[in-house]
Amino acid sequence: MRFGETFLDEIKARVRPSDVVGRHVKLKRQGREFAGLSPFTSEKTPSFFVNDEKGFYHCFSSGKHGDAISFLMEIEGLTFPEAVEKLAGLAGMEMPKSDPQAEARAARNKETISWMERAKEFFERSLYRQVGQEARDYLSNRGLSRTAAEYFGMGFAPNDFSALKSELIQQGATERQLVEAGLIIESDDRSRDSWDRFRNRIMFPIHDSRGRLVAFGGRAMEKDAKAKYLNSPETPVFSKSRLLYNFHRARKALAAPKNGSRGMIVAEGYMDVIALSRAGFEHAVAPMGTALTEEQLELLWRAGPEPILCFDGDKAGLRAAYRSIERALPLLKPGYSLRFALLPEGQDPDDLIRADGPPAMKAILENALPLIDMLWRREREKEPLTTPEQKAGLKARLYAALDEIDHADVKSLYKTELLERFDKAYGWKPNRRQNRAQEPKADRLAIKRDAAALSKNSRRERALIGAVLVYPELISRVDETLFELPFANADCARLQRSLLSYWRVTKAVEINALNTHISEEGLESLRKDILRDRLLIIAAMGGASSDLDTRTAFWEAEATALLEQNQTSDETRGTRLRMADTIREDNSEALRRLMRAAKLDDS
Ligand code: UTP
Ligand code: MN
Repeated sequence: MRFGETFLDEIKARVRPSDVVGRHVKLKRQGREFAGLSPFTSEKTPSFFVNDEKGFYHCFSSGKHGDAISFLMEIEGLTFPEAVEKLAGLAGMEMPKSDPQAEARAARNKETISWMERAKEFFERSLYRQVGQEARDYLSNRGLSRTAAEYFGMGFAPNDFSALKSELIQQGATERQLVEAGLIIESDDRSRDSWDRFRNRIMFPIHDSRGRLVAFGGRAMEKDAKAKYLNSPETPVFSKSRLLYNFHRARKALAAPKNGSRGMIVAEGYMDVIALSRAGFEHAVAPMGTALTEEQLELLWRAGPEPILCFDGDKAGLRAAYRSIERALPLLKPGYSLRFALLPEGQDPDDLIRADGPPAMKAILENALPLIDMLWRREREKEPLTTPEQKAGLKARLYAALDEIDHADVKSLYKTELLERFDKAYGWKPNRRQNRAQEPKADRLAIKRDAAALSKNSRRERALIGAVLVYPELISRVDETLFELPFANADCARLQRSLLSYWRVTKAVEINALNTHISEEGLESLRKDILRDRLLIIAAMGGASSDLDTRTAFWEAEATALLEQNQTSDETRGTRLRMADTIREDNSEALRRLMRAAKLDDS
């Protein structure tokens, strides 16, 4: 739809920005302007201003700026024509007449949507009647309350070829209308009667970005159904590549000042969205069984600059995540990106929330990886990286990926960062040990002292790694230190890298998954070797009954000791001793004995 200048001017003249904004933000008059709390950030003091005379708003905390139309686009996620239509409605203006064909189409779409509404009512009624008993049981087994089912408008399509059809025809629908709505199917040659598309399925209403009911997704009740989910076909009002399930509710949730997230959460399925929403993440959406399209990405960015995409941490999940990178690179623009939350293998958000609760989900979301980290990971995983040729191959792949980025500034900043990472990982670096051997003043005594320190350090390194293997939950506390520790023992260094690669991806610790990861990297025997000292390690971490805080403190002290043994400065040594003292004071004589038994105590 196109609007003439005059029509737009007329709207702007009739609608005061403060009225439009005032529907979303509490405004207070301040001289010629209105002030309020920014709807884009969760600020405590007002830095959001609306000026009716000039016809714009300005948000100092987010830097956003615009008129009534762009405000609606921003806050309600509307497209330009949608925002204009809404404002025209507020101003009591008729929309400009478009061509008669378009009008007829619009009228037909309205009808289609109203039959979708009627269908939804029918499905809902069926869910709560006798025929819906099994469906209700299914939902309650999946932990869905009636309130939740009602909130999402869920229903049940009875196991019958004409239940919906006869109901709606009785209500006045024509077969043509129901076919157009995708609710019934007719055979190509019309040799038999048309029949209900959705049978014996739990029904999920699907809305467009304006909140109009335009489609359904239906989940099969039987385990062995041909399609687990069946969606409405493409219709004049439904194009599955252009909308996202739950977008209209998620947009509101995200825009609420208390929300504070930087973008929507994108899950893979309807049930995930519902589970997320019920766990307090109401800004969740899902595509309908396909990879994210360009249109969907733009839709997400209209709601917030950094949506988080959730994927199963298995191979297929990673592949899907990598596909989204491909889609996103050409579209990146300043301020807009994606983040990736990788879930433990084999779990979707629904599974995870049910198994470990909302805090576990929250932790995974908070630790979502930036796009650049995922890209870096993707390119490194494609080929082994041992020989110079392979490393050069990586560099070539990085350049190829950079080529995909259209926006010049984004591209050049990606280039800087990726090349920096490359140099750090594969570029030239001085060999520490060799340098030490060449030190001219290395007398016999110093060498002897070094050797002693080395074996003590090696014990210490094994304890530090061992502690994380025994208590993987330690990683979440010590990951930064663990990342930086310069392990001299090659085995420890390999396990260190393996632990970190696991952690960076999952950001959740599950001992079986961790062990699988380690063995996939061929480090199973090293792990077993270190764990032969299991009892000593447990003792060194404060004993079998110590809690996570105590273990963390012991671990940190050991790490500090290791770091400072590597340096010789008296000052740092002093710090380390003081730290160890503090910990010892906090703990019993028994623990001190245990530490001594573990030979990790210097005394
Ligand atoms: P999943 O198979 O991961 O479904 O498909 P799920 O959400 O975990 O479903 P539950 O937990 O078994 O109920 C994810 C999404 O892919 C689409 C649907 O949109 C689904 O929500 N899909 C899946 C289909 O369109 N058709 C299918 O046969 C399967
Ligand atoms: Mn699921």
